[in-house]
Amino acid sequence: MTTRSDHRRPASRPAKRRGRRLAVATATAALCAIVAFVLLPTGHLNSRSLVQVNGSLFAVPAGAQADALAELTALPVRPGSTLDLTGNVISIGDGAAPSREVDGRPLDDDVELTDGAQVIVRHGSPTLEGLVRTTKAIPFQTVVEGSGDALEVVKAGSLGERAVYTGALSRTQGFTVVLEPAQNAVVRKTGAAGKGPKLVALTFDDGPGEYTPAVLDALAAKKAPATFFVLGPGAKARPDLIKRMKAEGHLVANHGWTHKPLTTLSEAQIRSEISRTDAVIGGSRYVRPAYGARNEKVKAVVASMGMKIALWNVDTRDWEKPDVDAIMGWVKKQTRPNGIIIMHDGGSNRSATVAAIPVIVDWLRANGYTLVTIDKIL
Ligand code: NI
Repeated sequence: MTTRSDHRRPASRPAKRRGRRLAVATATAALCAIVAFVLLPTGHLNSRSLVQVNGSLFAVPAGAQADALAELTALPVRPGSTLDLTGNVISIGDGAAPSREVDGRPLDDDVELTDGAQVIVRHGSPTLEGLVRTTKAIPFQTVVEGSGDALEVVKAGSLGERAVYTGALSRTQGFTVVLEPAQNAVVRKTGAAGKGPKLVALTFDDGPGEYTPAVLDALAAKKAPATFFVLGPGAKARPDLIKRMKAEGHLVANHGWTHKPLTTLSEAQIRSEISRTDAVIGGSRYVRPAYGARNEKVKAVVASMGMKIALWNVDTRDWEKPDVDAIMGWVKKQTRPNGIIIMHDGGSNRSATVAAIPVIVDWLRANGYTLVTIDKIL
C-alpha cells in the first residue's frame, strides 16, 4: 500500500491531451461536412451508386462492376436443372446459367454499375432432357361380319405406325404420336344363310320296289341326284336297279335287312342287319335305321363298322299317301339349307311321290338350292 501514488496527480495531463484531440476531430469533421456540403452537388466526390436489383435498392461503391453485386446483395442465384419428360429433376446445376441484365443489356463483369441502374438477376432456366424417337407398328384388328361357315376377306388389314418419344437420359416413356393409323381387316362370314351354296338332299327309303324305276325316271328327267336307303331283300331281288342308281349318279346307302327297329335288337343282330345289306349293295358309308330308331348301342355298332347314321330333317309324310300339294306343303315348310328330305320309293303305292318329284326339284332350284347326295352334307 503505497501512499506515493496516491499523492500523484496522474489524470491532469492525459485529460488535457484528450481534450485537444477532440477539438481537432470536431474541427476536421466540421470542415469535411462543409467540403462535402459544397462539393456533393457536383457529384465528383459521390462515393456510392444506388442500384436497383430485382426491385430492391442497394448502394455500391461508385465505379463498382458486376462482381460486386453478388457480394453486396447476397442474392442466391442458381443455374438451371435438367428435367426429365415428366418434369422431375434429373440433375441440378447443369442447366442454363443464371442471367444478369442491366437496363435491358447483358451485365458483363466489366460493366460499371452507375447510379440508378436497374439490374435484373434471374435463376438459370431448367433444361428438358433430350428426346429419343423410335417408331413402332400398330397392330390391326379383324372385324367379323355376318355368320356362316365360309369366310370372305372383304378388306385386308394393314399395320399402322406410331412414334414413341423417350427421355435420352432418364429413359422415361414420354408421349406417343400416331403417324399412320392401322386399318382393320374386315372378314365376312357366309354359308348356310349367306352367299354359299344352299345344299339339299332328296332321299328315298324302303326300295327298291315297283315304283323305283318311275322315281329314277323322274329324277333323270330333272338331272337331280338322290340317295336311296335300300333294304337288303329288295336290293338282292333287283340288282339291276341298284346298278342303275349308281350309274345315274345316285348314292346307294343302307336301310338294314328286316326293317325292324335296331333298338330292339342285340348288338350281333344290329351288326347282321347292316352287314348283310351292305354286302348286297357293295358297301356304304351311311346307315338309316328303320323309323330312325337309335340308341347308344346302335350308334356304337354303326361307328364300330366305320359308318355314319343318316337321319332326315324334312319329312314329306308321303307314307300317309298325301297328294302332291300336301307333300309340297311339308317341303316348303321344313326345308332349310343342308336339308335332308325323306321320301319312299318302296313299301306301298308311291305314285304321289313320283308325281311330286319334279315339283319338289323345281321349287328347290327356284329357291336357290343345289341338289346333292347326302355325302355332300353329312
Ligand atoms: Ni323305312
